[in-house]
Amino acid sequence: MLPLNKYIVGDSLKQLKLIDDDSVDLCVTSPPYNKLEGNRGHLVDKVVYDEFVDKVDEDLYQESQIDILNEMYRIIKPGGSMFYNHRVRWEKGVTIHPLEWILKCDWKFRQEIVWDRTLAGNIRGWRFWPIDERIYWLYKPLDGNDKSGKELESKHSLLTSIWRIMPNKNTNHPASFPIELSSRIIYSILVGKKGVVIDPYAGSGTTLISAKLLGSDYIGIDMSTEYKTVFDNRVDSPSKDIEKHNNEIEKHFVNKTYKQRKSELPPKCTREDLFEEDV
Ligand SMILES: C[S@@+](CC[C@H](N)C(=O)[O-])C[C@H]1O[C@@H](n2cnc3c(N)ncnc32)[C@H](O)[C@@H]1O
Repeated sequence: MLPLNKYIVGDSLKQLKLIDDDSVDLCVTSPPYNKLEGNRGHLVDKVVYDEFVDKVDEDLYQESQIDILNEMYRIIKPGGSMFYNHRVRWEKGVTIHPLEWILKCDWKFRQEIVWDRTLAGNIRGWRFWPIDERIYWLYKPLDGNDKSGKELESKHSLLTSIWRIMPNKNTNHPASFPIELSSRIIYSILVGKKGVVIDPYAGSGTTLISAKLLGSDYIGIDMSTEYKTVFDNRVDSPSKDIEKHNNEIEKHFVNKTYKQRKSELPPKCTREDLFEEDV
């Protein structure tokens, strides 16, 4: 039996192992990033979690992420998806890219979305200011012939592969999602159907709140009792979340299908021509 609409306090890998194969529709998550940088050059406070230190041996970290990603693949239904938020990191001048371990997993890689956060803590000049994070859309095929699943509805694919969403401020969790992000994913992927959405690193429970607002069931896992309390308070009085969530849903609007848009393309057109009717 799935632990529906529960926030489980525990270790994510151990808890995922208790869930049946092919039983969950969608995963939206952001693990701890194994932050390798020191204290220098930070504009905002360092992310410090309750319960654990986000700095372990990088090889062990990547192995643990592969375990989580593959366990998630097992429990997601064929035709289902996982959205995995991470970012490019640097350690002593060496780039560590999330695709190094994502491509070793069982998932079919579907898309890399750039999350333009508009700002970030580190303003040192070794590189252009890295204000982006990534969201990886991973897909579990229905069978061997299923190359990339169903098309998105036109109203969702109007959104581009670059998502400009400001990070959260003043929350009771050091690295919570902006709710626009999880609502965008769930609304676009479940297309109005009730499903089961899971977040194995639930934190303040943003994914779970989006799922609930969209009429789906949720399962959250996090090792922190403190963050469960943050979620419990949030789910009891979601007024701030509802406003932001509704603003996001209003963006998913289009009055022409892909076919109509294609048939009306002028011989040479700009992106503005293409979307003129939709703004
Ligand atoms: C980046 S935060 C997720 C924030 C979340 N998306 C939100 O909106 O609040 C990562 C979370 O993973 C949790 N965590 C880290 N290691 C874990 C583990 N092994 N099992 C369960 N939770 C873990 C931390 O407590 C933290 O809340």
